[in-house]
Amino acid sequence: MLRLNHVQKAYGTPEQPIPVLHDISIDVADGEFCAILGPSGSGKSTLLNIIGVLDHPDAGEIELGGVPIDFGSATEAARLRNQLLGFVFQSFQLLPRLTAWENVALPLLYRGTPRPERKPRALAMLDRLGLGERVHHLPAELSGGQRQRVALARALIGDPKLVLADEPTGSLDSVTAAEVLQLLRQLNRDFGVTLLMVTHDRGLAEACDRSIEILDGRVVSDVRRDG
Ligand SMILES: Nc1ncnc2c1ncn2[C@@H]1O[C@H](COP(=O)(O)OP(=O)(O)OP(=O)(O)O)[C@@H](O)[C@H]1O
Ligand SMILES: [Mg+2]
Repeated sequence: MLRLNHVQKAYGTPEQPIPVLHDISIDVADGEFCAILGPSGSGKSTLLNIIGVLDHPDAGEIELGGVPIDFGSATEAARLRNQLLGFVFQSFQLLPRLTAWENVALPLLYRGTPRPERKPRALAMLDRLGLGERVHHLPAELSGGQRQRVALARALIGDPKLVLADEPTGSLDSVTAAEVLQLLRQLNRDFGVTLLMVTHDRGLAEACDRSIEILDGRVVSDVRRDG
């Protein structure tokens, strides 16, 4: 599904590079629920942004579904983001003036799905995530956990091959965070979607099938658990 070969990334200037990712090689199988664990500043978001084709590596290669990503092509990047990837962020990133269902339907709009098809699909996805009663609410009228469910529905509506989640429970209290994690697990099982979740929370990482720990831009451990 996803293969990283010797990925490197530095910020700063060519004269004074600040290395962030040193030499990351990871293989994520189809259907895996995998956590990337590491402390603040270890390079987790940088790594996730590169996998999400929001940023490019300085060296190394990334394959998505067996095909190397062409980081030089903006149209290709947009196509991958739109058709193969789903994104979930700590801060939800919902559009405040759109209702829950309109937020969920956005990726379909970008793909050119006709409007009569968009609404029923968004409603069905929200229903599936237990938000059938809240489809016409604005994000401000929803709780944090409900907002994250809307964001998850938006990530899943395009039937992505890989969902990338950056601290998806980071702005939730521990009870709601546990619920969202449970939901991610269920989505992984029911939709068979491959999930890569970044977290600094060891407890959350240990609830995943696999946790890859990074420290200072290097993989320091890679543990698989029986699901
Ligand atoms: N655009 C940028 N320009 C320069 N340095 C950056 C940039 N983005 C990140 N960095 C630096 O790269 C390092 C890794 O950042 P990154 O955001 O990947 O960490 P993280 O593991 O996601 O941390 P957190 O848990 O706090 O989100 C940090 O030292 C950060 O300051
Ligand atoms: Mg981060």
